[in-house]
Amino acid sequence: MVLSSSFRTLLRLNRQSRSGQYVALFPNWNRAKSYYVTTPIYYVNSVPHLGHLYTTILADASCRWEKMKNVNSTFTDSKLVTGTDEHGLKVKQAADAQQMDPLVFCDQVSERFRKMIKVFGIDASDFVRTTEQRHYEAVQHFWQKVEENGFIYKGQYKGWYSIPDEAYVSESAITLEKDKISGETYRISKESGHRLQWMEEENYMFKLSAFTDQVREWILSDSQRVHPVKFRAKLLHELQTPLEDISISRDVSKVPWGVPVPGDSAHRVYVWFDALVNYLTAAGYPQVNGTTYSNMWPADVHIVGQDIMRFHAVYWPAFLLAAGLKLPKQVVVHSHWLCDNRKMSKSTGNVVDPFETALSVTPEGLRYFLLKQGVLGDDCNFSEKLLYNGLNSDLANDYGNCLHRIMGKRLNPLKVYPGELVGTSNADHAIDDDSIKEVIISVQHLAEEIQPYYRDFYFYKGINAIMKVVQLVNIMVTKHKVWELKRTDSNQAAFLDTVLYCSYEAMRVCSILLQPIAPELASFALSKLGVPQDCRGLDDAMKSFASLEGGQDKMVGQPLGHDMKPLFRRLELPESLTSKQSQAQ
Ligand code: MSP
Repeated sequence: MVLSSSFRTLLRLNRQSRSGQYVALFPNWNRAKSYYVTTPIYYVNSVPHLGHLYTTILADASCRWEKMKNVNSTFTDSKLVTGTDEHGLKVKQAADAQQMDPLVFCDQVSERFRKMIKVFGIDASDFVRTTEQRHYEAVQHFWQKVEENGFIYKGQYKGWYSIPDEAYVSESAITLEKDKISGETYRISKESGHRLQWMEEENYMFKLSAFTDQVREWILSDSQRVHPVKFRAKLLHELQTPLEDISISRDVSKVPWGVPVPGDSAHRVYVWFDALVNYLTAAGYPQVNGTTYSNMWPADVHIVGQDIMRFHAVYWPAFLLAAGLKLPKQVVVHSHWLCDNRKMSKSTGNVVDPFETALSVTPEGLRYFLLKQGVLGDDCNFSEKLLYNGLNSDLANDYGNCLHRIMGKRLNPLKVYPGELVGTSNADHAIDDDSIKEVIISVQHLAEEIQPYYRDFYFYKGINAIMKVVQLVNIMVTKHKVWELKRTDSNQAAFLDTVLYCSYEAMRVCSILLQPIAPELASFALSKLGVPQDCRGLDDAMKSFASLEGGQDKMVGQPLGHDMKPLFRRLELPESLTSKQSQAQ
């Protein structure tokens, strides 16, 4: 770290060097555009689980980040769309098992997904249900376009089908397995492990084979098209084998629960062909002349789990090309969540219920945990130990405690945003202190450091960078024993104000940047710090320590918020953990 003898010169140099890098790193910074991010639409054959919540929170964090970036520009059109996938065999089977009318069953389970959106503060602008009239119209219109363009034909389909995946499985993706009890041999999908059924019927086929090269070129034309690179490489490898045509309808007698094929009520549209079109439905399709549709399409990002990557990055672009529509800009893929390093499954009984977990750790706590623990390309592990210890350490001890320490009545009796006494010898004295210098420099770099992380969905890296700054603030405050400094002594008071100013600035910037991760917690902290609603954008986090540079800091002297509740209450460890820990001792 290069340090100049004068603090203010140091700050200026620091800022100048940053603005140079900034342009080079972020050439698209000023692009004015709308942002449209999607989650998969969730099957309603079962209720929301941790994996569904994770995909949704990734989308929400990304959408909130885009909004924050653009808060001060004329463009603020960021949209997140989610919903439920309600057709197909497995939903019908689930409804039959409950002896319920499929639509009544769908209404009930879909409502649970809406509740998830609400409870976890997901800022969704639309919720598409595939049983809605507007979606039927979109699917049928889309089908007709593909048909008019010559990519649908009638044929005899023979092959293996996985109901849990609602997918046709080719011979090369099948393996044999023997039932341990009956000794019977059956076929399973190598990828999902699900048992397959033989299917033989006349139905409508899609000429997927016509699109192998175009899909490959689309992926190759942008290194970020399928992100992260691990999944991109997997897809490109698969695309070395030419694509085969696929069936896109089922006989109505086998699958009565679905969208009728236009002009042929003896067939229902294949559930994936139907479901993928939801991304267009939300964009206002097929009213192609309507502004909504033209503004929102193509989508910026489809966020999907690895199990459904192929549908989004191979089938979907091929369908869109066949319909003559633009292709989405990016498909972001994440791996799966395990529980205590084991696959979550109903039979093992280890499926994590997000609602139940949030009851003990709060919805914001669970959001924070998922984004801190989740890494796109690797399986993510959920464990109570990681959850409770991580939240107590980061949110209760580091972040919450830091805020509490610097906002106490004794340190800040006037309850206003503190300001350093510019030009006094105390400021210059403070600059010679390493712990203060480190806070200032790291805060000044934070917003810039975080941008590529958030842009590329590496939220955990952003969280780690923020928490590092919070830790530096705690170190600074402890080192200077600020609680021992006396306001009656003008020198000590000025030094105290300098340290407080640095702490408040650090917590202000950290909290602004934490908004996409834990919006309510961050907003609570910002209100405590007295930061007005219209000063919470990325621009505001880019600017810090204005008064130390000799400028006017609009925050200095602002009244603080009145809420003295703790930011995050320390969590009581559940019995399962305390008994494990005491056994270990
Ligand atoms: N209905 C289809 C998607 C159609 S989109 C046009 C579907 N639904 S799903 O409910 O089965 O899965 C939705 C999402 O949840 C997928 O992205 C899937 O990868 C994700 N997850 C399901 N289990 C998961 C984990 N254990 N961990 C992380 N995500 C997982 O597929």
